Amino acid sequence: MNQAEHTSLRLFYALWPDPETRARLAQLQARVRGQLVRHDNLHLTLAFLGAQSAVLLPTLRMILDLLPHHDIVLTLDRVGYFTRKRIAWAGTHEVPEAINELERRLVQELMRHDIAFDQRTGFSPHITLARDAEAPADTPFEPIVWKADRVALVQSVTQPGGVRYEVLATRRPLQSEPDFGN
Ligand code: 2AM
Repeated sequence: MNQAEHTSLRLFYALWPDPETRARLAQLQARVRGQLVRHDNLHLTLAFLGAQSAVLLPTLRMILDLLPHHDIVLTLDRVGYFTRKRIAWAGTHEVPEAINELERRLVQELMRHDIAFDQRTGFSPHITLARDAEAPADTPFEPIVWKADRVALVQSVTQPGGVRYEVLATRRPLQSEPDFGN
């Protein structure tokens, strides 16, 4: 067995915000009370895979390139709350069909490649702002218009200071686009 066969990584696919959207989301966190998600960890999960063998990484990277390239514009215009999980989140009143299509294709490809992922809850696009949170007021704010074009394979790394998310790969852009970094 080589090293990769022994290594297990905690993985998920996400839409990864550009720095400006990330900064606006961080401002929105002022509206919520709880354990705030670190600014550089803010993201929208498409599929949570959990622990996976590092041997699968080439397949998981390849799946990124099979996903549709429709423009996804998310108008983040609401703050919501998952009561049971005590999560305060940012989202949109009008979920664009393109994000549902992206998630469906991702799920199809994961199934086709026999890759396990968490299917317990249906897809409910949200960006977690705080955990162990109080229910926030959904008072109006100037919507954040996010051109969500960075689909990423992300590793969740647990460190003494808390969890850190590391982008392992992003879908190849159709045309050249600036590298957003983190
Ligand atoms: P959440 O923000 O709604 O908790 C990394 O953990 C990301 O994967 C988080 O955005 C988390 O969503 C999401 N996720 C989905 N299912 C998960 C699960 N079963 N365990 C941990 N995280 C999960």
